[in-house]
Amino acid sequence: MQVNVLISTYIHKSAIKKAEQSIEQKYNDVATINDAHRPTFHATPKVNWMNDPNGLIYYNHAYHLFYQHNPFSTEWGNIHWAHMKSDNLITWNDLPIALAPSEDYDRDGCFSGSAIEHEGKLYLFYTSNIFTSPQGLPDDLLQQQCLAISEDGGITFEKYARNPIISSPPVDIGDNNHFRDPKVWKNNDTWYMVLGTKKNQRGKVLLYKSTNLVDWQYVSVLVESDGSMGHMFECPDIFSLGDVDVLLVSPEGIVDYPISGYYVGKLNYETGQFIHGEFKLLDYGQHFYAPQTFLDHKGRRIMIGWMPMKGKQLNKSWSGCMTFPRELSLNENQLLLIKPASELHELRDTSMSTGQIQLDNEDKWLYHGNSIELQLTVNLAYLSAQQFGIRFFSSDEEEAIIGYDKANQQLYIDLSSIKASPYNKKYINLSDIEYSALKLQLILDRSTIELFINDGQYVFSGLVFPQEKSLDISLFATNGTATIEQLNLYSLKQ
Ligand code: FRU
Repeated sequence: MQVNVLISTYIHKSAIKKAEQSIEQKYNDVATINDAHRPTFHATPKVNWMNDPNGLIYYNHAYHLFYQHNPFSTEWGNIHWAHMKSDNLITWNDLPIALAPSEDYDRDGCFSGSAIEHEGKLYLFYTSNIFTSPQGLPDDLLQQQCLAISEDGGITFEKYARNPIISSPPVDIGDNNHFRDPKVWKNNDTWYMVLGTKKNQRGKVLLYKSTNLVDWQYVSVLVESDGSMGHMFECPDIFSLGDVDVLLVSPEGIVDYPISGYYVGKLNYETGQFIHGEFKLLDYGQHFYAPQTFLDHKGRRIMIGWMPMKGKQLNKSWSGCMTFPRELSLNENQLLLIKPASELHELRDTSMSTGQIQLDNEDKWLYHGNSIELQLTVNLAYLSAQQFGIRFFSSDEEEAIIGYDKANQQLYIDLSSIKASPYNKKYINLSDIEYSALKLQLILDRSTIELFINDGQYVFSGLVFPQEKSLDISLFATNGTATIEQLNLYSLKQ
């Protein structure tokens, strides 16, 4: 092995060691375990900052989840790839940090990317980031695509000696200061990669191809913002569901909170053209961003998204977590159905099931707890109440509400009274779908809220910090009656 390769390996290992020491020290100093808000079955960093899921893969008989991590603070910065693995998508165990900034080309961060298995080895594709001015202004960046390989079953990673493998997009197509988040997959015998970029303040997704994973050729622009779709497209991901292709993207600059969505279409591998329909949201909350998918050994297309949080402001030792893994399928209208992975059932502990419940302009107390799954179906044909819904994270001082407004055919999620983390009321318009019953599935894990509506046609994710006493869950109907046909409530194992 060449001397400079040995030196690089040594520097990388030292950077990883420093990061791990920082994590251990903080972990020993703070009582993270006693934090009543810390999720128990959502992938959450031991301490400090987490953003995007990276390198999702089922490899070597386990699920691997890498993520963007600052080992030194609860704020974004100094971005490493941390690593967890799981046998069941529920319990996540930490593995050593996989990637640390250690080379000139990635000195200011190992940004998002993906993983593939090739000849038994695990390959990570990531974006190396450099701040090109001392001020680190948002556009003073150099972003290039890099590779790191594990030969020990996915524990330690060696950066490829000839990084970067893609140094810039074609100049007239994209800007190399915003050029990131490689997602790699194989189609027939060719490797493909999608990347996010921008040109003239318009987000774009680029397609590349390769036969050997290190030499990449630009193919085409798959989607491009017309100006109304944001100035940058982050974290693209494309995959097939049956004979349809779905492209996920996280556009920046449309609204003032994170959103992610998808296009359904067909990718022509010969021409590089992606003919697609309209952009649709993947999630209607403000706590879902940069999702990534993978195909598991059971043939499921699983998506995990990042639930962002301001850990420092909230005085927490950790910041952010992942959603519960979600399984994707398409319905006959080419709408994505997004459902919690069936492993959720393994968490069910005590259960309560009821037959029909009639709510007549009243509140009905159900349960006291914040680690639950609640499923209910309401018959809308018999609905006379103006509003009905669920109160949870509730006490005499605050409450979260999921409500249905009959006149407007809207579902609303109201987190505005949660004192430590209020959010504006959000509305989901349900008038454009045909349905006679409203089916809700709500999963709470101490601070996370995940609501799946009508078998995953709409999803809402939230991350909030109610007081410890705010544990009541109840149903309500105002100005009339609501008939709940079926209700199941499970407490979930922590
Ligand atoms: C999305 C993102 C990615 C980038 C990473 C940096 O949240 O901005 O585009 O690679 O985070 O941490």
